[in-house]
Amino acid sequence: MTADLKGRNFISMLDFSKEEILTVLDTAKRMRTEGYGAESLPLKGKTLAMVFQKPSLRTRVSFETGMTKLGGHAIYLAPSDISLGKREITEDIAIVLSRYADIIMARVFGHDVVDELAKYATVPVINGLSDFEHPCQVLADFQTILERKGRLEGLKACYIGDGNNVAHSLMFGAARMGMHMTIITPPGYEPKQEVAKRSIEVAASTGSKITVSNDLSAAAGAEVLYTDVWASMGQEGEVAQRKKLFTKYRIDAETVSMANPDAIILHCLPAHYGEEIDYRTSRLPNSVIFDQAENRMHAQNALMVHLAG
Ligand code: CP
Ligand code: NVA
Repeated sequence: MTADLKGRNFISMLDFSKEEILTVLDTAKRMRTEGYGAESLPLKGKTLAMVFQKPSLRTRVSFETGMTKLGGHAIYLAPSDISLGKREITEDIAIVLSRYADIIMARVFGHDVVDELAKYATVPVINGLSDFEHPCQVLADFQTILERKGRLEGLKACYIGDGNNVAHSLMFGAARMGMHMTIITPPGYEPKQEVAKRSIEVAASTGSKITVSNDLSAAAGAEVLYTDVWASMGQEGEVAQRKKLFTKYRIDAETVSMANPDAIILHCLPAHYGEEIDYRTSRLPNSVIFDQAENRMHAQNALMVHLAG
């Protein structure tokens, strides 16, 4: 499988074709299984600029350690360092960073910010999470699902919780890859309608079935169970209200008993144990949450080598 991705951006799961996603996942698999030999340093001398408007454990550390393994260097720009959009405009930041760095990764609030970075940057821009999408997460999730299930196509996945950025990327990604995806949320917290509409359009050509429901019984027979926090970064003021409304929308023993007996359990982390998942369920043998976290690094390393190697 080959696809030339040199110079491209990765802002949305829909930016890549199915073949392009499989190419990246194939490289990621090789990186995880064969390791990073000292002689092969595909990003030697290259620099990744990492722009953060929000906190992070996995995204920051996986990109930074990943760059080290590939022979390159990563610069962490904390929210207070460049005050994106406040100290200077996004356009100028994109142009200036492109003069120094070979790749830009950004974690932002508004999706328009990462779009604008991509518009003005002359190097590849990677979305490290926006309020609308989290494509790097889903790339790693797909790597993890492939490791356990051997396929994405035709697999029955179910996401329970908030119709957020992760849910959006899962819907786009599933539609692209031919995986079935049921999103179960409390009423009023469904994914954006435009995402459902676009996913269903894309799914028509891949055989994927995308469903949005408020009914927990839609999780019956799921082969992949996925959840994420009820309140995302930036929604701290809604935590108390969401805790009341989301109570039933979690992965627990009951959800697991409804699912396929071999269902794997995914969570992008950070987890709020006792809310969207309980600690015991997160530690079941079929939970792959820490493989997902590790695969962030391999999937992103593969991505960076394809975009800028
Ligand atoms: N899953 C994820 O993106 O984690 P961080 O917020 O810690 O980067
Ligand atoms: N939906 C979560 C994902 C964190 C990785 C958030 O945006 O905070």
